[in-house]
Amino acid sequence: MKKTVISIALATVVATVIGCASTLPPVSMRGAAVPDADHAPEAKVYAQKVPGIGEQQLIARTFIGQPPLIPHTTEKYEPITADDNACLECHQTDEFRGKKLPKMGASHFSTTVKDSDGNPAVEMSRFQCNTCHVAQVDAKPLVENSFVGVTR
Ligand code: HEC
Ligand code: HEC
Repeated sequence: MKKTVISIALATVVATVIGCASTLPPVSMRGAAVPDADHAPEAKVYAQKVPGIGEQQLIARTFIGQPPLIPHTTEKYEPITADDNACLECHQTDEFRGKKLPKMGASHFSTTVKDSDGNPAVEMSRFQCNTCHVAQVDAKPLVENSFVGVTR
């Protein structure tokens, strides 16, 4: 009997606490009042320099199948449009103005279609380079994480 009374009393206390908690107004995780409009984050400038000046290392890949990150600034080469893709001027070959550079992988070229010079044409699914490859800014991660890359 005594046990039952204690159980009922406890259940009442717990229900009251939960009841009170659920009447608290919702708290926003972004640190602003719920109806406040979002502010655009501060625009960051690319941390890198123009390609090919010999100062920039390629960025190590951190998972298998990763599109490599772009180690140079891309401001001058974007936007990519149907008639103008500056990325191709350099990356369609492995050399630009006498300097070696990383050529696009075989996966980026058609196995059937040739361009006007008789070389494999660029695969159209790879034309919009910046859907997969991105330049870098010096931004602090928004949340901590313990990701460790695996590349083999
Ligand atoms: C003027 C020539 C030039 C242009 C234009 C250019 N790149 Fe590059 N790219 C380079 C060079 C040279 C490197 C080697 C690193 C360096 O010197 O910055 C490089 C490196 C890269 C890499 C790294 C490859 C790897 O294996 O890690 C990627 C990805 C890349 N560029 C993508 C792009 C994209 C996308 C564009 C267009 C928005 C572009 N590049 C425009 C010359 C160029
Ligand atoms: C659909 C996603 C995608 C698009 C679009 C794309 N790439 Fe890639 N790229 C990749 C992936 C994944 C790799 C690594 C594996 C490979 O070579 O396929 C890569 C590799 C590369 C490399 C390094 C090649 C190597 O492994 O040494 C260069 C340079 C590159 N891409 C440039 C470009 C350029 C320039 C364009 C636009 C004309 C472009 N990519 C479009 C996904 C993409």
